[in-house]
Amino acid sequence: MKAEVIVNKSYVIGKIDNRIYGSFLEHLGRAIYHGIYEPTHKTANEQGFREDVLELVKQLKVEAVRYPGGNFVSGYNWEDGTGDKSKRPRRMEHAWRSIETNEVGIDEFQEWAKQADTDIIMAVNLGTRGADDARNLVEYCNGTTDTYYVQKRKENGFEKPFSIKTWCLGNEMDGEWQIGSKTADEYGKLAKESAKMMKSVDPSIELVACGSSEFNMKTFGEWELTVLDHVYDYVDYISLHQYYGNVSDKTSDYLGRSVLMNDFIKSVSAICDAVKAKKHSKKTMNLSFDEWNVWFHSNNAKIDDWQIAPPLLEDVYNFEDALLVGCMLMTLQKNCDRVKIACLAQLVNVIAPIMTENNGKSWAQTIFYPFFFASNYGRGVSLQSIVKSDSYQTSDGYTVPYLESSVIYNEEKGEITVYAVNRNLEEEMSLELFLQGFDSAKLVEHKELYCDNLKSVNTSDEQPVAPKDVEISKSVGENHKVSLKKHSFNMLRFSL
Ligand code: AHR
Repeated sequence: MKAEVIVNKSYVIGKIDNRIYGSFLEHLGRAIYHGIYEPTHKTANEQGFREDVLELVKQLKVEAVRYPGGNFVSGYNWEDGTGDKSKRPRRMEHAWRSIETNEVGIDEFQEWAKQADTDIIMAVNLGTRGADDARNLVEYCNGTTDTYYVQKRKENGFEKPFSIKTWCLGNEMDGEWQIGSKTADEYGKLAKESAKMMKSVDPSIELVACGSSEFNMKTFGEWELTVLDHVYDYVDYISLHQYYGNVSDKTSDYLGRSVLMNDFIKSVSAICDAVKAKKHSKKTMNLSFDEWNVWFHSNNAKIDDWQIAPPLLEDVYNFEDALLVGCMLMTLQKNCDRVKIACLAQLVNVIAPIMTENNGKSWAQTIFYPFFFASNYGRGVSLQSIVKSDSYQTSDGYTVPYLESSVIYNEEKGEITVYAVNRNLEEEMSLELFLQGFDSAKLVEHKELYCDNLKSVNTSDEQPVAPKDVEISKSVGENHKVSLKKHSFNMLRFSL
């Protein structure tokens, strides 16, 4: 099978906002406790953070981490996670029916974020709480005035503000499962008032309003229109969330799910632009895809309620999941003109690229690798490609090209990176690349993620799904030819 990708140096989609390589850590299962924080672990540092996990997180170059939830945030009292640890309350945590010890809160998390070399995207509780607590939290984190919450932060040992730039106005407020879920009108009003008060405390912050919990929500579209009508002038982004799963075990359908993700992004952009037109606004609303991933393997796990850090949502990812995650990352890169923030949900243990054993090993799941390559090399501008590839039909009627690809030009580093997934399950693909305007392009690296068995998984002992170097032709010039194995993820790097 043959395919072609044609790009031109002058045809740019947009500059990639590095926050599209973001992730998410929620007080859920073993993400925080036994994930990033385990004072009894042999690699634990002075603050109780696992250095082995920090090392893996740093390899991923995660630009920003959304915290503390997720569904968790909608019942959370942020004050519980501040100050003297010995006085912090143990709470019934109703989103995941667990016990929250509050050993970690924003006081500790901001320290972890520094050590992980990442920014925080902070979410406020608009489920059981509201504008008042949201503005107090902004004051606690970012305030510099001689006032109550700034004093509290200083008393707790933090003279300098945490300077958190990006804030989410609640989480999935359209979902029936959400603590304190709301109608679009109720949420829109509350989000607007919270935004006004939060920006009054710190006008430099950026805000994300909740969009739909997924494309298939019954209220999708209406929700965005109503919420944006309320908040358009007060927020900077609207969120999208989406998870996919190979529930019917049809791999070709499954690998095509990134086409639906693309439709979702285009649909939300169109809705934002409709509201912009209606309001005669000059402002373009951008998108925060702040939860995305594969999530289905752990759906039927039975875990008892009211445990501390139970093993919830521990999907063990296989090779085909990594292929879809790779396609989803390319979809985000190709929509970088509108998607400015994206969070792989989540980061450790809970539907995550990094897994740990309690007081034991940590390792990279299969989905670690496409994120690693996208985040480490996919910075710069995303180029508009003309793709010539045969397509197939999914059983639910979507047309999916066999080739998924994206091309990133990093002028500063003098590099072009091409990402490519061959979705063909039977045949190798001969790919011709036409890099117009890059006549000195020299192929320097071809990394491949391939496994014959699509269901192979990585464990603490064995890592059958790991990248390999492919021998390269060392071709120089605008035109290059490479071969992509059947069902493989590839990264091709060119120096200029
Ligand atoms: O990431 C797991 C959960 O998925 C989050 O808590 C919630 O926002 C979403 O439904």
